[in-house]
Amino acid sequence: MAQEIQAEEEQAFAETQVVEPSSTHFSVVGELQKIQEEHEYLPPDKLRELAREKNLSLARIYSIATFYNQFSLQPKGEHIITVCTGTACHVRGAPELLTKLKDTLSVDAGETTEDGKFTLQTVNCLGACALGPLISIDGKYYGNMTLSKLDGVMEEYGVDND
Ligand code: FES
Repeated sequence: MAQEIQAEEEQAFAETQVVEPSSTHFSVVGELQKIQEEHEYLPPDKLRELAREKNLSLARIYSIATFYNQFSLQPKGEHIITVCTGTACHVRGAPELLTKLKDTLSVDAGETTEDGKFTLQTVNCLGACALGPLISIDGKYYGNMTLSKLDGVMEEYGVDND
């Protein structure tokens, strides 16, 4: 599934470019994946190093890194909450779930709470549309989610919704 999403993102990226992405582009993506695997995000000093290695501008590296949802420029929280905002989940209430999480955690999608406990992010499909609306926390899926079920799930992670 991750490969399908990456392929779609690469296609979408290609469509925003005047020319097809080059082998350099794909090798940068590969390097970014390695950096993120190691650090859980893309530290600025590693991006500068990569720019030097590839003989590319730092702006070019950032433009690639920021295009793909899979990359994060911020350190991730202890728990990663992913809200699927794909069509199947959207029509079944994903926007309300996302709004509730944003309000509860006081962060926007893509941000980490001040205490470093949670990162809230969105994704276009978690690959289990029949379970929508669907969120995942640290890779564990919570399907057929409702606002009241969400309260219970967040309580498991020490968040009091009152
Ligand atoms: S659209 Fe949400 S899991 Fe596919």
